[in-house]
Amino acid sequence: MNSLWSLFLCLLCAILCLNVCGAYKILVVFPIAGKSHGILGDGVVRHLLNAGHEVSYITPFPKDNPHKNLRQIDISSDEANAVMMNKANITAIMNKEQDVADPREFFKFILDTQRSTVLNENVQKMLNDPKQTFDAVIAEWMFSELYSGFAPIYGCPFIWLSTTEPHSSILDLIDETLNPTYNPGIISTTIPPYTFTERIKELLFYAANYVLKNFVLIGSEREVYEELFVPLIKKKGRPVPTYDEVKYNVSLVLGNSHVSLGQATRLPQSYKAVGGYHIDTNIKPLPEDLKKLLDNAKNGLIYFSMGSNLKSKELPDEFKKSLLKMFGTLKHTVLWKFEDALSDLPSNVHIVKWAPQPAILSHPNCILFVTHGGLLSTTETIHFGKPTVGIPVFADQFINVERAVKKGFGKRVDLSYTMAGDLKVAIEEVLANPSYAKKAKELSQIYHDRPSLPGAELVHWVEHVIKTGGATHLRSPALQVPFYQKLYLDLAALILIVVIALRFIVKRVWKLCSKKTVDSKKKNK
Ligand SMILES: *[C@@H]1O[C@H](CO)[C@@H](O)[C@H](O)[C@H]1NC(C)=O
Ligand SMILES: *[C@@H]1O[C@H](CO)[C@@H](O)[C@H](O)[C@H]1NC(C)=O
Repeated sequence: MNSLWSLFLCLLCAILCLNVCGAYKILVVFPIAGKSHGILGDGVVRHLLNAGHEVSYITPFPKDNPHKNLRQIDISSDEANAVMMNKANITAIMNKEQDVADPREFFKFILDTQRSTVLNENVQKMLNDPKQTFDAVIAEWMFSELYSGFAPIYGCPFIWLSTTEPHSSILDLIDETLNPTYNPGIISTTIPPYTFTERIKELLFYAANYVLKNFVLIGSEREVYEELFVPLIKKKGRPVPTYDEVKYNVSLVLGNSHVSLGQATRLPQSYKAVGGYHIDTNIKPLPEDLKKLLDNAKNGLIYFSMGSNLKSKELPDEFKKSLLKMFGTLKHTVLWKFEDALSDLPSNVHIVKWAPQPAILSHPNCILFVTHGGLLSTTETIHFGKPTVGIPVFADQFINVERAVKKGFGKRVDLSYTMAGDLKVAIEEVLANPSYAKKAKELSQIYHDRPSLPGAELVHWVEHVIKTGGATHLRSPALQVPFYQKLYLDLAALILIVVIALRFIVKRVWKLCSKKTVDSKKKNK
């Protein structure tokens, strides 16, 4: 009875405490209609709700029966966004007919999505509600800073969530550029140490990206800010900052990164690495059939998934057949995440339309993950300590797989019609050589060895920013210092002027003196 009472009192205290001293209103902005972006947004929201906060969530993936403290602002009506995010066609990529990395098309898509997100009727309803307030805004950074315009509407601190390992494009906003000699840029496909040509390539990438962002794209971003955000700020009667003031007024960057997954990058105080926060530590039990399959996999189970973006049913027929035939020659059980039915399955190959990936990877009989190398899949593989064979298709998948290879827990296979043979060689190598699994376990240990769970850290820093009115004490002084001062170009100029002046004076004096001596010699004659 006594313990029941104390439990009740504890609960009461907890509820009171949350209500009195720290339930905040937070706006979370994750508008990109890609599945993995949605998973990262859902993770942020889940942790904030569990900590007792009230969340408004701009999302293209609204859920049924949301939490009572969650308000979903549904933007799923934006079709262009969904079409673009589901455009990747694996057949076309294999035929080299689709260039998924066309930068012009990509940046146009980014700006269009941002406009349509802000103009979405549900978002407009929220923005035009005079009673609406927020204590902080958290938005996903996606090649543009436009969403930082939400903060001045509510006069509250702004936080970016950066989805990848730290890079110059995001650190430029809170500190300064990383040295491209040993830090890969956002679209790099290689990791250091760099060869001479790679170093030049990195520098050129950096310069091109800098020029594109700061001289080409900034104009249209500024226009959209003036057009869509400024009237709302005025309507609230708040001071209107310029776009540049808003862009560099970031309180915190939450990075979906961790040193076990990337490299030991030098980071400012306002960058907090919370990589892996999206993984629910409460793993739901496997469905009965999958559990049986994994439990009974005597020689271990190979899990094969190309992620949510690439539909395996779009794969060419002969390619599917060659993969099935190759899997049939393995002594292991193979579980292939595939959205369609397949005929003529070898007895050791099983297909699932939907796969609870964390639960599969966490099973001790899962011995290998054959993956496209997406960042979330790579994080999950380290979380559960499983080796990989990576088949990168686009975007950051190349660098993620490159990292797995260099770190020694994975092998890479190039996507092609004839890759079945290469895939078999890679699978056999990773399974025969224990160093891959050992490395995956080692990195997993490093990944888990943190003072607190990434989700708890995320909540802590968001609350810290709100409590301290924007955490200005965390901001890097580098942000205030212009480029020429960092490189002491002003000192160099001063030294140059002094040297030139001295040279001039010395020359003059020398001329005068020699003239005098000549004159006096003349006189003496
Ligand atoms: C994917 O690309 C292939 C080859 O270009 C094409 O035949 C197919 O129709 C495309 N599929 C979709 C869904 O667009
Ligand atoms: C910058 O952010 C802080 C809070 O994070 C806010 O108080 C301040 O008004 C903002 N400044 C501008 C120019 O937007």
